[in-house]
This record gives sequence, structure tokens and C-alpha cells, in this order.
Amino acid sequence: MDETYTNDLLRLKAAFKGISETPILARIIEQAAVSGSVRILDVGTGTGVSIQKVCDCLCKAGITSIVTGIDLFLPPESFRINDARIFFLQGDFNTFTTDETYDVVNATQMLYYFPRLKETLLRMIRLVRPGGILAATVWCSDCILYQVHKTFFISASSGPVLDEAAVQRHFSELQKGGQANIEFFSGPIDLNNFLEDEASIQSFLNIVSRQSGTERCTSATSSAVRLFLLKHAPIGMRKNAIVWLRVDDSSK
Ligand SMILES: C[S@@+](CC[C@H](N)C(=O)[O-])C[C@H]1O[C@@H](n2cnc3c(N)ncnc32)[C@H](O)[C@@H]1O
Repeated sequence: MDETYTNDLLRLKAAFKGISETPILARIIEQAAVSGSVRILDVGTGTGVSIQKVCDCLCKAGITSIVTGIDLFLPPESFRINDARIFFLQGDFNTFTTDETYDVVNATQMLYYFPRLKETLLRMIRLVRPGGILAATVWCSDCILYQVHKTFFISASSGPVLDEAAVQRHFSELQKGGQANIEFFSGPIDLNNFLEDEASIQSFLNIVSRQSGTERCTSATSSAVRLFLLKHAPIGMRKNAIVWLRVDDSSK
């Protein structure tokens, strides 16, 4: 990921309207607080804005957050938030090592980037203290962003599709018996934002393709996606699921 990715993600988020899923995630995380504070590892933290909003919600509930935010690419200071509650770490989560465990390990909209998801989820769960929480936010299968991703970027050969049901299944397997919890959120997205010109649609596709790197999409793909979005414009629905589980000794 790089600065272009950060800009493109901010542009995508600017099209999200209405309330956000932040309070739902904060309510889940709150359950892992100990004596009024919670230590969070935020995997794929990006600019840090998403987890910062969660910290603000927790603060209103009287809970202090201490966050380690790890990302492959940390955006420059101008984008990264300056918040004493959040310690940023640049690196690949798959090679991240620590002796610490956390009350919560959270991954918001980033599991798609792990080619060996099972292995990565095991790494995540080992970093959660017994009784802590593992949480991930992903698109739902009927989210318009997921629909674009599935229609234009998943080929028959790319293997299982990572929708909310697949993630819940993966999480439930980690738990060995019992089902992982799932909570849903939906909100409008202004599709006109992406239909202005070729640059807008390329910026949209840079995020929605879920491909790492900055390769731009072919003009054939961008025209096809444009038509797809035009059919749904001006408003589409984004739908997210937060899949989460409480970690006990049988989960590791
Ligand atoms: C869609 S963004 C989500 C950012 C943030 N969680 C949010 O909700 O705004 C996905 C993030 O995952 C990061 N990422 C992808 N693969 C990663 C890896 N192996 N280790 C750490 N971060 C990774 C990317 O750099 C990017 O910032």
C-alpha cells in the first residue's frame, strides 16, 4: 500500500453517508476491558482514524484505550492521526512478533489481504489473552462494494470467496465448537462520487479490487464497473459484518 492507496481510501470513505458501525465495534470491544482500560492490537490500522473513533466511543463509556496499530504502510504524518492513545508500528502483521498479549485483536476491512488466512487468524488468536476478544469487520455478500469485487475481481480459480459467512466459519473453527458472533451494519453510499471521471473510478477500484500494489485497472474493467454502478446510482448500500469471538484456552 502507499500514499495513493491512503488517498483512495479516504475518497471512498467520503462517499459513506449516515451513521457508522463504530459504536457497534466499541460495544463489542468494551466487553474485554479490565479495570476501565483495554489494550487493543489494531491490524491494518491505516491512518488510524477508524480505531481512533472506536477509542472515542470507549472513552465516552469511561474506558481508556491503549492501541498498537500495525500496518504494512504507514501514511505520512499529514494523514496519520496524532493521538497519544495510539502507537503506530510499520510492518507486515505476518512477521510481527511480540511477547505481549492483548485484550482485543481487531482487523477492520483488511482480512482480504491475507493469502493464507487460516495461518494469519491463528497468529491473531495467539495474541489475544484468555478471555479477550478477536474481532474482524468485513463486507457482507449483499454489500454493493463486495458485489463489485465479486463480479469483477474474483475468478473461478481464485478460491473461496471471503464474505461474512466464510469469515464466521473461519472464526468458529478457531473456537473449536460453538459459533462465532456476528453483528451487521448497513448504510448508504453515494455512488455519484465515483462516476465523475476515469480518475474517480480508478481510485474506487484501487480499494475495491483488494489487490495489493498500485496497478491501475484496465479501461475495459473500469467501463464495466461504471455501467454496473450507473445501474445502482445515485445511492447504493454498503453492508458490513463484525465477526467476533471471545477467546478461551480451547481457541488456541
Ligand atoms: C482497507 S484498509 C483498512 C484500514 C483501516 N483498518 C480502516 O478501517 O480504515 C486495509 C489496510 O490493511 C493494510 N494491510 C494489508 N496487508 C497487511 C499486512 N500484511 N500487515 C499489516 N497491514 C496490512 C493496508 O496497508 C491497509 O492500510
